[in-house]
Amino acid sequence: MDKIIINEEKCTGCSLCAFDCPNGCLTVENGKARFARPACIECGHCFAVCPQGAVTMAGYNCADEPAVPMTAVGSDTLLAAMRSRRTVRHFTERPVEEEELRKILEAGRYSPTGGNFQNVAFTVLGSRQAEAEALCVGIFRDGSALDAGPAAFLKRIGVEVTDDFFFKGAPLVVVVSGPDDVNPALASSYMELMAESLGLGVLYSGFFRECAAVSAELRELLDLPEGHRAVTCMVIGYPAVEYKRIVPRKPLKLKTL
Ligand SMILES: Cc1cc2nc3c(=O)[nH]c(=O)nc-3n(C[C@H](O)[C@H](O)[C@H](O)COP(=O)(O)O)c2cc1C
Repeated sequence: MDKIIINEEKCTGCSLCAFDCPNGCLTVENGKARFARPACIECGHCFAVCPQGAVTMAGYNCADEPAVPMTAVGSDTLLAAMRSRRTVRHFTERPVEEEELRKILEAGRYSPTGGNFQNVAFTVLGSRQAEAEALCVGIFRDGSALDAGPAAFLKRIGVEVTDDFFFKGAPLVVVVSGPDDVNPALASSYMELMAESLGLGVLYSGFFRECAAVSAELRELLDLPEGHRAVTCMVIGYPAVEYKRIVPRKPLKLKTL
């Protein structure tokens, strides 16, 4: 069965699908679009661009949801909100609702992936959150597995590894994983913005990631998909701190060639 199915009754042969297909999988013959090449990455551009709704994709729910352009958000507001975003390290006890989590995960699911691999996975620590944190605290306090790395750095600067050092009492922790770093990192960035737009705060726990890299016990607990590594650990909850102004930053490093 073809991955892309053209409804010939609806198709007007406008060729927009062929024009926008990144791999040239569609042609127009005798006034109708035709799926001609199997090199389809299932990106859905043909589905999205067709003015007639004549395209469907095998194996996908092809609901006809109208696209909303990012311009609807407003660039000035978006930029100001992005500059105002801060890492949150103090959380209230208010839980994250199911619907909020669903939106955060949906933002991750819709982030771009190289080759449209869609190979990013999301692991909510849920009932194992306290256990995972206790494992990480043990690894950092022991220090031997991370001798030259962050645990040693913390020791040097005199930071105490408290029992809530990794998750700060936050109600939700999501580990974003994949076979490479780029796609999960992009997904995490999408998720962070969505969380912020819901009034939630996020901490990327790089220290947790270090623990996952060295601890087989933690990796077993995480039970990530085959071939995946933990790329980010997103600690999420309602902030117990409010930032009044935008922080200064180093100048832009830009070179135009
Ligand atoms: C990949 C990554 C890992 C991070 N890991 C930690 C961490 O383990 N603990 C922590 O307190 N902050 C962590 N942070 C937060 C950074 O320290 C923070 O982004 C930086 O100080 C700038 O502050 P801002 O996010 O409020 O602008 C991490 C941030 C990133 C992007």
